[in-house]
Amino acid sequence: MDMLALLVDLHKHNKRQGPGGDDETQLAIRLSGLQSAQNLRIADIGCGTGAQTCVLAQELDARVVAVDFLAEFLEMLDDGMQGEAVPGSIEKLVASMDDMPFEPEDFDAIWSEGAIYNIGFEAGIRALRRYLKPGGVLAVSELTWFTAERPAAIEAHWTKEYPEIATAGTKIALLEKHGYTPIGYFPLPEGCWRENYYRPLEQGFDAFLARHGSSAEARAVVASHRTEIALYNEYAAYFGYGYYLARKAGE
Ligand SMILES: C[S@@+](CC[C@H](N)C(=O)[O-])C[C@H]1O[C@@H](n2cnc3c(N)ncnc32)[C@H](O)[C@@H]1O
Repeated sequence: MDMLALLVDLHKHNKRQGPGGDDETQLAIRLSGLQSAQNLRIADIGCGTGAQTCVLAQELDARVVAVDFLAEFLEMLDDGMQGEAVPGSIEKLVASMDDMPFEPEDFDAIWSEGAIYNIGFEAGIRALRRYLKPGGVLAVSELTWFTAERPAAIEAHWTKEYPEIATAGTKIALLEKHGYTPIGYFPLPEGCWRENYYRPLEQGFDAFLARHGSSAEARAVVASHRTEIALYNEYAAYFGYGYYLARKAGE
């Protein structure tokens, strides 16, 4: 089994494939100012198994298009894993975020929790803008430095793994540069990583290894996740996800 298939198998049984929380999606919705709007059309890009997709569909009068390039994650949106019936206003689409079959100005809002990094924050916010109606809302969570200075070890790690990591000020300036008006920001609390993402992941390690006969590849996948978790535990004061809300500004 190749590495991608192993990663999918490790993650698809969980509610989330990255740090986040229902309360934080709800906070982002409040900051977006969309609650009073009717008949919204929203795209949720890199939705995974759809934790935030369901919150969006339930909290807003919205038709949500859930987009992910992995069909196996989208399939899990159907099977009741989210703990409640999946609302009828979710449409699933297997597509890559850099090649989506949407028309310009198709959406009132575009959501992307912990996924835009796959094409890079700056390329992502530029690419997604065309799909937003004038004044439409962009909501993304993104790896962010929480302090101006960091210990050398964590600085070196993330600069290598994700060179676009930056402080919120830098990310917000990029949003302004690319035609958005920032309307909200908050850092995700540590519980979004520890309780909501890492704990279920760790609880699944033994079953994952058993499914794969403790192969060397499966053990390597678990080891790399344990390393990531240890890094977070040591350096959580310095980095995490920032949640950014911005409105598409005029041409
Ligand atoms: C860290 S997970 C976050 C998933 C979900 N939003 C969450 O917070 O639980 C990133 C997601 O982006 C998806 N993804 C990665 N590259 C993608 C691409 N080029 N186009 C669409 N989805 C992509 C992955 O399959 C995965 O579901």
